[in-house]
Amino acid sequence: MDGEPIRAQNLSPVASTRYPKNRRKKGPPRFVHASEEEFAHILDFYHIEWVYEPRSFPLQWDGERVKEMFTPDFYLPGLDLYVELTTMKQSLVTRKNRKLRRLRELYPDINIRLLYKRDYQGLLAKYGYRAITPTALDDIDHVLLSGEEIQKRIRVLATKISEDYAGRDLRLIGILKGVAFFMTDLMRQLDLPVSTDYMFITKYQRNGADTGAVRILKDLDQSIQGCDVLLVEDIVDTGITLRYIMNYLQARKPASLKVCTLLDRRVRRLVDQPLDYVGFEIPDEYVVGYGLDYRELYRNLPFICVLKPEAYKT
Ligand code: IMP
Ligand code: MG
Repeated sequence: MDGEPIRAQNLSPVASTRYPKNRRKKGPPRFVHASEEEFAHILDFYHIEWVYEPRSFPLQWDGERVKEMFTPDFYLPGLDLYVELTTMKQSLVTRKNRKLRRLRELYPDINIRLLYKRDYQGLLAKYGYRAITPTALDDIDHVLLSGEEIQKRIRVLATKISEDYAGRDLRLIGILKGVAFFMTDLMRQLDLPVSTDYMFITKYQRNGADTGAVRILKDLDQSIQGCDVLLVEDIVDTGITLRYIMNYLQARKPASLKVCTLLDRRVRRLVDQPLDYVGFEIPDEYVVGYGLDYRELYRNLPFICVLKPEAYKT
């Protein structure tokens, strides 16, 4: 890790990291078509890493000399996929399909897809972006953390936790419901004997504002006395919930008690409570997705994002 959480705002797509490696050493890629630029924007929006025309594949030779080449438009390293964009023009499509067939014969290990503009969303759905219905998509202002960035960070956290608890059994306690995605993804990566329990907690509200009081709707199923306990949270905001739960758990005499949170919105902290493992520090914006909700919606988005102000007006 690792000690330091990653600042999510620094992960926003930075064009310079996505410049093509082949043709020009500096400056943004020179897209041949507007559709390529549009596709690049969509990929950036979702924080999907891409390279423009990184590789040319010889398709035909005349003796030693290469007679025909094919250069797919994009390569998406995270999906190990080449993408060739196409228009609806039938003559073009036929020619491209012939080239793709030849490429697949010659390079059977290469993953490539011919993509029509209308297929952009379909492709993303195939790779886990299924939950993005057009309505949800309209509500999203920007993606803060892609599914890939989250998983990468979880692997680092899990490695650290596995090292720190080596040789011991660990009880994970998740706070429902927002933690559901994080908890399951984290525990899958832990190299330890792990047991789990969940609590369901709600904050008392008065006139729509938090009162600072917390109520337990579902308590632990098992005793934690003498156990090594790791509390798993989706997000620590004011810290009020966390402080309450830590006091509650500490009173049940665990052998040890630590906290792991995926997100830390430190700028909003009212109650100081140390955090042992932090995924990302995020800016002062309400976030949804990857388990987090706004009025029970958006939990199934595969990434963490900020909604447009209009999305809250209902
Ligand atoms: P705290 O008590 O203010 O630290 O609030 C923590 C709890 O509030 C989290 O466990 C979440 O359930 C909820 N929460 C805080 N911020 C957000 C957010 O940006 N999106 C979704 N839920 C949030
Ligand atoms: Mg091209």
